Amino acid sequence: MSKTVTFTVFRYDPERDRKPHYKDYKVELRRAGMMVLDGLNQIRWEQDGTLSYRRSCREGVCGSDGFNINGVNMLACITHIEDLKEPIVVQPLPSMPVIKDLVVDFTDFYNKYYLIKPYLITKTPPPSDRERLQSPEDRRKLDGLYECILCGCCSSSCPSYWADPNYLGPAALLKAWRFIADSRDEGTDERLEIINDRDGAWRCHTILNCVEACPKLLNPTEAIAHLKKTIISKKF
Ligand code: FES
Repeated sequence: MSKTVTFTVFRYDPERDRKPHYKDYKVELRRAGMMVLDGLNQIRWEQDGTLSYRRSCREGVCGSDGFNINGVNMLACITHIEDLKEPIVVQPLPSMPVIKDLVVDFTDFYNKYYLIKPYLITKTPPPSDRERLQSPEDRRKLDGLYECILCGCCSSSCPSYWADPNYLGPAALLKAWRFIADSRDEGTDERLEIINDRDGAWRCHTILNCVEACPKLLNPTEAIAHLKKTIISKKF
């Protein structure tokens, strides 16, 4: 007989509910290695089609299914059910406005991301006979930075992000360092103008929750430390 586990899922439909509540579901473990996302799919497809959540790739690539699972932010599609204690409590990412159930509003998160100009900025003309090349050594400087999938797990785990609605947050700041560290980029000064602010890099108090929360094992705190050092070295 297959085993069942209890999922306790945050539910809130602003059109119907006066306030949020939690609902228990039994999920059948039908095969080895089932992920939390498989459990949510089983609930939605077989028990309760009203449950809302985002997911797409199912491989830890798209960043859609970041949730708070048993108190920790993580991606449901790469989190094994059998590694978790019961009941498995699934909630929306903390500090993000809830649209419905586990679906949160990323507008503010993305607006902060756009503020740091998340693209290569160039001022000098490119070589006439080739693209802008990068040495393997310079390319390696982007390892641990380019892999960010913008799932929001880090920013939404950060107490400074909860406390200060204007704080750019670890995700946007890690992305800022990803472009500043890129040997082809020429936009350092204009990015640092934005980041050298009490709501920028200086709002980070090295609490390190972001490092624990990142499902890609990146280190936003270290990236922010690089930003602070660069600001100081440039005497902004
Ligand atoms: Fe894409 Fe989980 S569904 S990261």
